[in-house]
Amino acid sequence: MISDKWSASAVAGLISLPLEPLLTREYETDPARVHERLRVKYGPVAPVELLGVPIWFALGYDEVLHVMQNPREQWSKRVDNWRAYAEGRVPPDWPLLALLRADNSGFHDGDRHRDLRGAWVAGLRPFQEPGSEQARRLERAMVRYCDDLIAVMAEGGPTGWADLAAQYGRPFPLLVANHLLGVTIERGEEMVEDHWRLLDGPDSAAAYQRLYATLLELATIKRQRRGDDLPSYMIEAKPDITDEELTRELLMLSGFLDFTGALISNVIFEMLTDARLRPTVSAGAIEETVNRVALANPALANLTFRYARTEVRLGRFTIAPGDPVMLSIAGAHADPLFASALPRDNVRSTRAHLAWGAGPHRCPSQRLSAQMCAIAVRRLLDRFSTLKPAFPDGELPWRPSPFVRTLRSLPVHYELNQAFTGASRPEPGDEPSPPAPKDGGTDGGDGPPRHGLRAFLRRLLRAQ
Ligand code: HEM
Repeated sequence: MISDKWSASAVAGLISLPLEPLLTREYETDPARVHERLRVKYGPVAPVELLGVPIWFALGYDEVLHVMQNPREQWSKRVDNWRAYAEGRVPPDWPLLALLRADNSGFHDGDRHRDLRGAWVAGLRPFQEPGSEQARRLERAMVRYCDDLIAVMAEGGPTGWADLAAQYGRPFPLLVANHLLGVTIERGEEMVEDHWRLLDGPDSAAAYQRLYATLLELATIKRQRRGDDLPSYMIEAKPDITDEELTRELLMLSGFLDFTGALISNVIFEMLTDARLRPTVSAGAIEETVNRVALANPALANLTFRYARTEVRLGRFTIAPGDPVMLSIAGAHADPLFASALPRDNVRSTRAHLAWGAGPHRCPSQRLSAQMCAIAVRRLLDRFSTLKPAFPDGELPWRPSPFVRTLRSLPVHYELNQAFTGASRPEPGDEPSPPAPKDGGTDGGDGPPRHGLRAFLRRLLRAQ
């Protein structure tokens, strides 16, 4: 319900329209139907209410792309440019306010954004450069993380039941985060759990404080003693970045890794339930499968707001200066003007989708994230001979979120490949490796000792 303070004449444009709440039960279970209804009623841009706050919701492909590309810097990501916020009409405890007010590259414009983004691009480069030593080492570590997660998941026996979202899709990227941050397992254990709590609570405020303190300490250590890791490369690229600035950037990892876990779960879900994907999966074209799912079921369905700097015509409406617009990637991909132009029987699906964003804020980690998804899915298919959905029809536990579209849990019945019998059999990598450097040091080789990692994974999965 919209409160009286929204009916001030200054917001008459948006508020004078009938605003339907976006986050309904119907949106949670069938967002595509809501998108279509809004499209029929309003065209490519619709006025909606998001948790009690009026916003514009863009779901036309051309409109979403145009705003992302931000020609003539018409759009800002700075919350100060949101008129309702500047005028005190957004309640201080509005649930999304803390996120939108964050002081990091995702919510800056212009030079400040370019500077901080430059640190990300440079910091991620060694891990994304094909053939580089860091990329090869990370790839080996990712394969091990997947195998260890599968081994722990299948400890009950060669056949059984598992939750591939909670036990696989979500923890895997968090282990990759440790590798990127260059922390030992002793240190990383607590961080993984806090990344997790930050996203899902219940004590997310305490987890935020702890994670902030840990990352700040890490930033300070890395400045003094550089390693082969993301924070060290970011400092190298932007030596004037303060420890606090770097900490705020690194805190964004929780969200990004959550999107990665969500995309992994979405790929597995679509693989298990959509017969149209079978030929691609059977041909072993996993990267292509990931791309098809990023297009059909983008993990990051909607983006955080852009605020109009001037009066702008968008769709059938005139957006007033200071109005917030939420870009819907899922809505844009379903836009008939875009979707109907895609050739159906192409071997390689289009890369012209918006799952990784576009324009100045485009994801700088696309290659790495897509690779993480492909490795996670490939290892799963190698290790299991059978994976069958174990959820009742029509009762899928979608995660309620304004931004991320994924399942809360993804239960399956599995059967292990005969060639792989789970964790009971020691594997070459199980031998203890040399002691890892102390706090803040990198894991030196391909990661922490394997027996330690598996014990940690057991504790982590039990703690859920
Ligand atoms: C499947 C996983 C991922 C998806 C779908 C995804 C998608 C996106 C999208 C759509 C944006 C643009 C946001 C906007 O325009 O408002 C973005 C930005 C960003 N992503 Fe990703 N991302 C993923 C994983 C990652 C990972 C793993 C990292 C880091 C290791 C990362 C780092 C970033 C950064 C730093 C930005 C902000 C860029 C800027 O503001 O200039 N992303 N991502």
